[in-house]
Amino acid sequence: MNQTEQTKQRKILVTSALPYANGSIHLGHMLEHIQTDIWVRFQKLRGEQCIYVCADDAHGTAIMLKAEQLGITPEQLIAKVQEEHQRDFAGFEISYDNYYSTHSEENRELSALIYERNKARGNIVARQITQLFDPEKKLFLSDRFVKGTCPKCDADDQYGDNCEKCGATYGAEELINPRSTISGATPILKENTQLFFDLPKFQDFLAQWTQSGSLQEGIANKLKEWLDSGLQQWDISREAPYFGFEIPGETGKYFYVWLDAPIGYMASFKNLCDRRDDLDFDDYWGKDSDAELYHFIGKDIINFHGLFWPAMLTGADFRTPTAIYSHGFVTVNGNKMSKSRGTFIKAETYLNHLSPEYLRYYFAAKLSGRIDDIDLNLEDFTQRVNSDLVNKVVNIASRTANFVKKLGGKLAEGNANPALTDEFQQAAAAIANHYEQREYGRAMRDIMALADKANQYIDEKAPWALMKEEGKEKEVLDCCSVGVNLFRLLALYLKPVLPGLAAKAEEFLNIAPLQWSDHLTLLQGHEINKFKAMMQRIEAKQIEAMTEEAKAEAEAEAKAAKPKSILDDDPIAEQINFDDFAKIDMRIAKIVTASHVEGADKLIQLTLDLGGETRNVFAGIKSAYKPEDLVGRFTVMVANLAPRKMKFGVSEGMVMAAGPGGQDIFLLSPDSGAVPGMRVK
Ligand code: MSP
Ligand code: ZN
Repeated sequence: MNQTEQTKQRKILVTSALPYANGSIHLGHMLEHIQTDIWVRFQKLRGEQCIYVCADDAHGTAIMLKAEQLGITPEQLIAKVQEEHQRDFAGFEISYDNYYSTHSEENRELSALIYERNKARGNIVARQITQLFDPEKKLFLSDRFVKGTCPKCDADDQYGDNCEKCGATYGAEELINPRSTISGATPILKENTQLFFDLPKFQDFLAQWTQSGSLQEGIANKLKEWLDSGLQQWDISREAPYFGFEIPGETGKYFYVWLDAPIGYMASFKNLCDRRDDLDFDDYWGKDSDAELYHFIGKDIINFHGLFWPAMLTGADFRTPTAIYSHGFVTVNGNKMSKSRGTFIKAETYLNHLSPEYLRYYFAAKLSGRIDDIDLNLEDFTQRVNSDLVNKVVNIASRTANFVKKLGGKLAEGNANPALTDEFQQAAAAIANHYEQREYGRAMRDIMALADKANQYIDEKAPWALMKEEGKEKEVLDCCSVGVNLFRLLALYLKPVLPGLAAKAEEFLNIAPLQWSDHLTLLQGHEINKFKAMMQRIEAKQIEAMTEEAKAEAEAEAKAAKPKSILDDDPIAEQINFDDFAKIDMRIAKIVTASHVEGADKLIQLTLDLGGETRNVFAGIKSAYKPEDLVGRFTVMVANLAPRKMKFGVSEGMVMAAGPGGQDIFLLSPDSGAVPGMRVK
């Protein structure tokens, strides 16, 4: 790189994957947004023009069904969820330049444009396929509108795309006893036309693009596998009912959610351009753009970003991404996040108990440029944050600042340890390189090694001991001034990860917001402010409270999600055999008299005719019946129940009724024709 190139400001557009608008943000999402945010903050700190956009991914069947289940419109659902998402991301200090929605006018227009341009070039083909059709409602059923028995494991009530019990994936037509979830009818197979993006046409382009060197090795290999096994045409249309954009020139057909989702990156940027004079859409997305474009994504969505997306863009005369940066999945305590263990932790739940900066640091310490999964071990998390941030970094300031304050509040004019400050300043280049390469773990290790050196220096000087000696004030001030300067450099190097700590440091140091180039200078003869505590230790009980809350939430959710059955409140009793059943002698009875029982607020006294024999029964049905309405009515009674002596007399049997109580008590009655005394069996 020559001198002029070096000083030219880079133009960089960065995205995180768009979270679906039907669920909460959890710590898995947070890994991605923290990883992206650190990179973006680093670029901005360096003075580059770096723009970070994101949005909610608001379309698709899952969102439509969720809204239906909640009894609201999809628009209401996505508005509510977006508000929550933005609140959670703000809570973790994620610094988007714009957070938008795929359900926007900009996205509708750009999706139509990209589709039309591809269509004009013959990249869209219509094909006949056989699909399940609801013969009553007269519509084609996409996967989520068919339920039936899993063809692999026989589990009932499974959707048409995959089984929630055994995880098998299959076509909806493979379900056993399929039924339409809209009408309940048995679907039939019917020919239908769908639109496909002709991905195989892009085989050569993609082979070249994926091996161009700017993709991570793991991604390039994965994409090569797909390319080698041959590309398939991609089904981009869905039948109504669907929540999304209707396809221009078609009726009742919608873009599949994954068509307009990545276009949502462009739409969010477009929306931002309309508000900012210094940004031009074509400058970033035009075919000959010299801007850089990076998508941060999880490893599960590489095919969409590494195959379909660059092909769609090229087919529509837009530029392609500079690179795709993929990360692995978050596990907690070595396992997949689990609702029952309380390790499926929502962003909101975390923030109820802990500072966002702890997690930002921990993820940074574990992140590399590779696609490995990242384990959040909650014990290691506690220990690492406490020992690195509280005991090492913040400690440097807390053990030096007060002496400076005591000795006049101004840092020394000279530099008592140029070797050490030089080492700190020169470390900037390597740390910057690690950030650029997304090797945050390495950056954190370098920074902590420096922090150790700073602490060693202070330990050796022991200003607290010097302070007690006669005439050592200058030495104390010199040493502590070095300490404060070292702390300033560490706060700067950590600023992309810990913007909150950096802000507190800037306040304490009495300086303007730090820029990366500030590592070239030191503070000398400069007045600082009083040191205030900057970070608390994590206590084990906070972690416990967080996982308890996560567990309780998961339980409440599971309960609410289950289709309501009255059996939930009153489960079926233990099994009995036929002989047990036969012991109960139930008879048709006619109510001949019915009256209030004095002093009893629940009971009605009944005289029952069993066809030759009468019985006196006290029934707890007063809250639902008036005695006069019961006279003459037929019902069912247990005739061989042992007589029971009650306060008001002897009860010689029991009438049978259903219901929870109160007004909801339903006395059984036989069909007409039954005669008092007949046995019920
Ligand atoms: N809506 C799509 C993305 C469209 S991008 C044009 C989607 N949404 S998602 O909500 O399911 O996931 C959003 C991102 O979060 C993805 O990059 C996904 O990989 C990431 N993660 C979801 N769970 C995760 C973990 N447990 N760990 C790390 N990342 C995870 O896919
Ligand atoms: Zn199954």
